[in-house]
Amino acid sequence: MKKESVYTVELDEPYPKATIRRKNMMLASALSQAYGGKTGELTSISEYLYQSILCAEEYPAISELFEDLAKVEMRHFRILGEMICALGAPPKVCVHKDFCRRIPWSGGYPFYRTTLGEALAGSMRDEEHAAAFYRKLAGCVENESVSQLLLRLAKDEEHHETLLGQALEDLKRMGGQ
Ligand SMILES: [Fe+2]
Repeated sequence: MKKESVYTVELDEPYPKATIRRKNMMLASALSQAYGGKTGELTSISEYLYQSILCAEEYPAISELFEDLAKVEMRHFRILGEMICALGAPPKVCVHKDFCRRIPWSGGYPFYRTTLGEALAGSMRDEEHAAAFYRKLAGCVENESVSQLLLRLAKDEEHHETLLGQALEDLKRMGGQ
């Protein structure tokens, strides 16, 4: 049985269903930035797993936090991929510039921060930006169900920022850096 986590990553709130009936390449393109872009979900997943592996021995609770965050980001990744697909673009891991031009995701995107403190602080900033991106896009889209789903994703990212801040405080209390 899995032991109880120090940090509660899952929010007790369902993800609204996006109802998409029309193709919309402009929206697919905007969503693809958060999907396969430089600071998108796949980049977050890679960074979190990298950090989780590095601190597993010394800071197991923070390692578990990183892994749990990666799992939520993977759910976001899936949700975005499904929306991109419903909007008429293939869910390839890329940024769609238009119907035929794509910039593929790159293994050079993840930013491998050197200390755990830097990783936590940097990830807090990334989460803040991700939440702002989703909120801004939610305010621009006409499809209300898509807008609601994006706002739900933003809530996760804001919660992640809070948890990373707590972990940073915990790290300092333990004398780590
Ligand atoms: Fe996310």
